[in-house]
Amino acid sequence: MNYSITIKQISSKETHQVRHKILRIGQPIESCEFEGDLRSDTLHFGAFNNEGLIGIISCYQNNNSYFKSGINYQIRGVATLEHMQKKGVGKKLMKHAEKKLKEINCSNIWLNARIKANEFYLKLGYTKIGPIFEVPLIGKHQCFFKN
Ligand SMILES: CC(C)(COP(=O)(O)OP(=O)(O)OC[C@H]1O[C@@H](n2cnc3c(N)ncnc32)[C@H](O)[C@@H]1OP(=O)(O)O)[C@@H](O)C(=O)NCCC(=O)NCCS
Repeated sequence: MNYSITIKQISSKETHQVRHKILRIGQPIESCEFEGDLRSDTLHFGAFNNEGLIGIISCYQNNNSYFKSGINYQIRGVATLEHMQKKGVGKKLMKHAEKKLKEINCSNIWLNARIKANEFYLKLGYTKIGPIFEVPLIGKHQCFFKN
């Protein structure tokens, strides 16, 4: 665990370097633009250490078929640079986002996880909801939520 990691709010554009390296490998840079990135109620956070940005997370005010009332946020684009994975960066980003969303009275957080990341979300107290489904070009996903 690197204790000098700090979390800051960043712009959607700043997420692109890590999105491209980790989440959209080999795809055009435009694939790093996600729907809702520029909305005023969207929040992007970055984890920084002495080398710069090493992890990202984005939060979008979105309902889904399970959460239709209240303030619901979808978490997307969670990624840690490969050499910094499994050192607590992702957990720190998730906890920071949860704290900020609680401050704005968010009722539910939900996300569609790549199934290889299921364990990460289970360890953070998220619950699976619904069946596994396929996202074109990316693979199998599972929806998770936390109240
Ligand atoms: C998934 C990801 C964001 C996790 O970030 P990270 O910085 O490596 O996570 P952390 O080190 O904070 O992990 C927190 C806990 O989850 C565990 N964990 C993290 N990723 C895991 C995985 N893929 N499988 C199983 N456990 C995992 C860690 O071992 C740690 O466990 P511990 O608390 O018992 O020590 C990161 O591995 C990543 O960027 N993966 C590639 C992109 C991706 O799949 N993103 C998710 C899209 S839904």
